[in-house]
Amino acid sequence: MYKTLLATLENSILTATINRPDKLNALNREVMNDLDTLLNDIDSNKDIKAVIITGAGQKGFVAGADISEFVGLSREEGQALAQKGQDIFSRIENNRKPIVAAVNGFALGGGCELAMSCHFRVASENARFGQPEVNLGLIPGYGGTQRLVQLIGKGRAMELLMTGNMIDAQTALQYGLVNHVVPQDELLVKTKSILDVIVAKAPLAISKCIAAANAAFTEKGYQIESEGFGECFATEDMKEGTAAFLEKRKPAFTGK
Ligand code: COA
Repeated sequence: MYKTLLATLENSILTATINRPDKLNALNREVMNDLDTLLNDIDSNKDIKAVIITGAGQKGFVAGADISEFVGLSREEGQALAQKGQDIFSRIENNRKPIVAAVNGFALGGGCELAMSCHFRVASENARFGQPEVNLGLIPGYGGTQRLVQLIGKGRAMELLMTGNMIDAQTALQYGLVNHVVPQDELLVKTKSILDVIVAKAPLAISKCIAAANAAFTEKGYQIESEGFGECFATEDMKEGTAAFLEKRKPAFTGK
């Protein structure tokens, strides 16, 4: 079904592993097309309640867009490439189901941008983050200039963007770029344990959290929050959740 992704579904959590380890999982056209297909499948498959994106091997999450595909591109083709990348990563960011990056190694360029488009990030101790595009005479094109500023603040983002320097996992933790740093062999277990908590909640409430938190970066954030709050009142899950609290029992959410 996918050419460059391995997908396994377990306990409603889909783990999608980008599988080009010999190229440190660099994002070529095939990977980007597979990510697009993956997003269609996440939308249509009711059995998927949350997603982990990670990279194959122990060294790379994703070491960037595939630089070999940049050769000979015109200005228009370069812009179109960026637009396609931005569209796919925006679908990740705005997905109604939680999508988390389990960063198992280098997350550079498009790899850092992919991780940043996910709803949050868990990293292994050997993870490295950076936007090294300036070393190629380029800038990030898949949303990196925007999301890096949002996640770590303008001053730190400016320094990383302009130096092209990498930061290690502990620095990423200190910057708030990742939520947790764990030994590599615990990365998926830790990420799944967080998602196990999330998938037990009412799915509509989760999707409204995502939409409202994303809207913090628009002028309509408060409006989207109040509308989402209202929409939750129209669900069985909200009635069940509040009733369960008042009856001192665990809620049984059904997604209705
Ligand atoms: N695009 C295409 N191929 C890439 C790649 C990328 N972004 N990143 C790594 N690769 C390939 C290498 O060319 C190499 O392929 P080869 O074995 O056929 O020669 C393979 O992946 C392994 O990478 P290598 O450079 O040998 O590993 P390393 O441990 O010496 O260095 C990095 C690791 C991540 C520091 C280095 O690969 C690198 O700087 N990559 C590019 C990062 C980048 O600029 N990303 C932004 C792109 S916009």
